[in-house]
Amino acid sequence: MAKKTNNVTPWDIQGEIDYQDLAQRFGTRLLSEDILERMEKHAGREHFMLRRGIFYSHRDVDEVLDHYDAGGQFALYTGRGPSGPVHLGHLVPWVFTKHLQDIYGCKLVFQFTDDEKMLIREDYDAEITSHWVYENALDLMALGFDPDKTEFIVDMKHTAKLFSIALKVAKRITWSTMRAVFGFNEDSNLGIIFFPTMQIAPCFIESERSGEPVPCLIPAGIDQDPYWRLTRDVATKLGYPKPAQIHGRMLPGLTGNAKMSSSMPETAIFTSDVPELVEKKIQDMPTPENRVDCLAYLLHYFLLTESDEEVNELHHECTVNQRSCQECKMELVEKVNKFLLAHQRRRKLIGKSVKRMLE
Ligand code: TRP
Repeated sequence: MAKKTNNVTPWDIQGEIDYQDLAQRFGTRLLSEDILERMEKHAGREHFMLRRGIFYSHRDVDEVLDHYDAGGQFALYTGRGPSGPVHLGHLVPWVFTKHLQDIYGCKLVFQFTDDEKMLIREDYDAEITSHWVYENALDLMALGFDPDKTEFIVDMKHTAKLFSIALKVAKRITWSTMRAVFGFNEDSNLGIIFFPTMQIAPCFIESERSGEPVPCLIPAGIDQDPYWRLTRDVATKLGYPKPAQIHGRMLPGLTGNAKMSSSMPETAIFTSDVPELVEKKIQDMPTPENRVDCLAYLLHYFLLTESDEEVNELHHECTVNQRSCQECKMELVEKVNKFLLAHQRRRKLIGKSVKRMLE
């Protein structure tokens, strides 16, 4: 069956997503063998998310690698809208970002767009978002990012770090461009129309601070691409390096949605879920019509099982009917719970240090 892409703006992902089609429509390039080999050489191993095409498309990663090979440093930038609890789908790009920080020793700027959530959600205020900022920051740091090389920027709290850059950016962007890129219209609130400049600003912050061009690489889901297309145009006008991107696929939801979504809790396993709830959610997963879409398999493939041998064996045993869905689900429950327990334990140990990082 042909997959179709309905709608992909940063605020609305529906239907099945055809990632090849998206890359083509957004004008990004697929990661080439050459890039994969270079990254493997730098890392001393190939990361499973690259090998499996979970991270699959990019802009200018080759240039960032050239810069690195010539002895230069670059910065990583990614972020999150702190609107609720973190689920396994959120961890996928973060695990990969941590790998990049490990290999390249670079700084990560991590933005919390509490302003964005305030502006688009009726029911959010500063108190709620600041609760989620802290909770989400714990989840991020529990993955093992280097606290000395990770900077949190919480938009409403650290506005001054971004505002002057955001203004420079805003000055170079017209309303008609914003409308075309983000689908704004006459009914969009004024804040959300300005907001994209706040998400663009961190791309330039390290260049601004050091007074020389520091390339920035953004690992993120491809749904955030509209920002970066715009950023790249503006960068040239402002004399900053164009930010590079490496795009990932999104982990589908448990009930077969395009992605795991916090706003549909039945589609997601949250990092805070207790073992009984994880078991219930996994037991309730519908049996897929087609093995390629099996969520149990995808969870192993995207996050839980690095070994190709193990993943292939799972697939094989399923195909030749050596394992039933029930067996698979039981094993998955165990694996997810083991993963979450370790994660929750690490989260508990880092509260103080994360609070300090958010000051
Ligand atoms: N807008 C993003 C979201 O809603 C959060 C975000 C801010 C982000 N800066 C980013 C995501 C940079 C990826 C890269 O989740």
